[in-house]
Amino acid sequence: MGDIKQSIEDAVNVIKNAKALIISAGAGIGVDSGLPDFRGKEGFWKAYPPIAKLGLSFAEMADPYWFQARPKLAWAFYGHRLNLYRTTQPHRGFYQLLEIGQQMPEGYFVFTSNVDGQFQKAGFAEEYVQECHGTIHHFQCVDDCEGTIWNAENEQVTVNESTFEARDPLPVCPHCGELARPNILMFGDGHWSYDRTNEQNKRFEQFINKVKAGRPPVAIIEMGAGKAVPTVRLNSQMLTQRLNATLIRINPRDYEVPYGHISIPLGAKEGVDLIYSQL
Ligand SMILES: NC(=O)c1ccc[n+]([C@@H]2O[C@H](COP(=O)([O-])OP(=O)(O)OC[C@H]3O[C@@H](n4cnc5c(N)ncnc54)[C@H](O)[C@@H]3O)[C@@H](O)[C@H]2O)c1
Ligand SMILES: [Zn+2]
Repeated sequence: MGDIKQSIEDAVNVIKNAKALIISAGAGIGVDSGLPDFRGKEGFWKAYPPIAKLGLSFAEMADPYWFQARPKLAWAFYGHRLNLYRTTQPHRGFYQLLEIGQQMPEGYFVFTSNVDGQFQKAGFAEEYVQECHGTIHHFQCVDDCEGTIWNAENEQVTVNESTFEARDPLPVCPHCGELARPNILMFGDGHWSYDRTNEQNKRFEQFINKVKAGRPPVAIIEMGAGKAVPTVRLNSQMLTQRLNATLIRINPRDYEVPYGHISIPLGAKEGVDLIYSQL
């Protein structure tokens, strides 16, 4: 685990020296805002006791199959999360990260598998966020009939918590009248409409290529990225190689880093606060 004080000091030096910042995040970053992560079956079931009763794992629940088989159950799961993420306030670490990012001469970019929109809520510019698994705040047709993705700000989903079923009317596609679903990449998902995420990815690639051309020192701060679906962790590590960047991984449990990078075995809020207060 090493010496936390030393790791914070190392992280501060890397950030002070950096000209560009990549902020990388998994579900764990939201834990300090009061959101659940889905770490293991127990973690998921603790957050969703009705799903524990059905015996479904996160991967089994996050399957587009349920929108066909049991639309009210599918919308109970996503509707509950939509409402939860809408009412959650990002913790102060988000604002501190934004400030750090905005001070970078070559700018910042966020890469996250979170679908909760917490970065935008904290004021991060939409054009500097890559949501690799989509977002719950946009909807699409279950059949992906026209490829359309729409902002869900005017959509309401209410959930009967005792039956764990969403109430009628469920959201529908404006083109064909079929059921709508969140624009989130699910497991075994053949109908995810990826246009929005693709556009984000193009902007992220442009950012990477621009930064790469100038070869400045780059810092990557990664928080709350787990090992079960390791998209974010692997992407951070891949970017260290592409950009010759230093990774600062903040995670209270899964804190191991490749040799030469910085591990901070703390929660995101505390870890970011310690760094921020020494910059
Ligand atoms: N908020 C969301 O949008 C959300 C929530 C759950 C799951 N998901 C989806 O499910 C998948 C889950 O993978 P994942 O790796 O993001 O989550 P995960 O639940 O598998 O892992 C969470 C990670 O966060 C760490 N963690 C726990 N408390 C923390 C804290 N206070 N500060 C920092 N880190 C903390 C854990 O040690 C773990 O490594 C992703 O594909 C994602 O799209 C999204
Ligand atoms: Zn449709």
